[in-house]
Amino acid sequence: MKALVLAGGSGSRLRPITHTSAKQLVPVANKPVLFYGLEAIADAGIREVGIVVGDTAAEIRAAVGDGSSFGLTVTYLPQEAPLGLAHAVLVAREFLGEDDFVMYLGDNFIVGGITGLVERFRRERPDAQIMLTRVKDPRAFGVAEVDASGRVVGLEEKPERPKSDLALVGVYLFGPAVHAAVAGLKPSWRNELEITDAIQALIDDGARVESTVISGYWKDTGNVTDMLEVNRLVLEGLEPSVRGRVDEASELIGRVVVEEGAEVTGSRVVGPAIVGAGSVVRDSYIGPFTSIDRDCTVLDSEIEYSIVLRGASIDGVGRIEVSLIGREAAVTPAPRVPKAHRLVLGDHSAVQISG
Ligand code: DAU
Repeated sequence: MKALVLAGGSGSRLRPITHTSAKQLVPVANKPVLFYGLEAIADAGIREVGIVVGDTAAEIRAAVGDGSSFGLTVTYLPQEAPLGLAHAVLVAREFLGEDDFVMYLGDNFIVGGITGLVERFRRERPDAQIMLTRVKDPRAFGVAEVDASGRVVGLEEKPERPKSDLALVGVYLFGPAVHAAVAGLKPSWRNELEITDAIQALIDDGARVESTVISGYWKDTGNVTDMLEVNRLVLEGLEPSVRGRVDEASELIGRVVVEEGAEVTGSRVVGPAIVGAGSVVRDSYIGPFTSIDRDCTVLDSEIEYSIVLRGASIDGVGRIEVSLIGREAAVTPAPRVPKAHRLVLGDHSAVQISG
């Protein structure tokens, strides 16, 4: 079995964070979301992986390399434009040959990995196996209509009036029959070749399409609340380790990771929390469910239930909660008078000011 990982496309949804970078590299607990997918694929015993890449190919290649650090052999498959998930299968046609494969959308996160799902597919060998999960707003997803016995009878991509709250998860298992279904597709209303339509075609042809309902699923929908929540979930499973420097005056409580080259002085860190490599935390409080990425500075401040991306600095600003702070962002106090907020906000930013 092979894996096809989709890391092309353009990142418009998790703005402003993905204005300038690949959405598959958005970090969860300081690790790109794509890496969790690659680890899950390796854990399921798959070795050969094709990664579909687009405009952000250079960034993805720099992060993943030849795949050996994951125990994988990676082949990069350039896609000229994001013409749809089924188009990516066309692009990968030669790489996939007649092998079974798992198609994994690089911006999806599945708690607990995919080993069980892959084992089930190997055992039962259907033509396709899909995963469904209950979501609050199914209009942002492919949506399945399921009969009383749990069999999928219809699929619709981003319907205005969803027939259920069961969304298609971005991990699909296919046998070679999918290629004929993909070859027969016409572009959808959004001008993409939809994998949802290919699976519908398999159902219409009487092919065997199995489904499982899972929980513990996240995808980048541009929703910061969800992102903080998945960050929390992953931090819950953190193995504490201190590879950086923590001085006598500091206190680490609970599951805390201090990566190599990080410095924590005169501070209190209450886990689960992670302080990334090369970051400096001084005279500050880092509260639970906080990920501080590499090369950040947190001085004389308090921060909790938040994600701080690479190179950001927070200096003398009191308390921050429930926040996502982008790369190289600087949060500093304003002069005492006039008493005013001074903001330089990127496109699509959101700020909530208290008091
Ligand atoms: O995440 C689950 C959803 O993924 C499913 O519920 C939908 O049925 C499915 O169509 C897909 O919906 P999205 O419209 O949200 O997919 P998105 O455009 O975000 O692309 C998913 C991943 O695939 C993302 O990492 C970018 C990559 N991609 C996307 C397209 C359209 C490619 O590599 N090439 C492409 O042509």
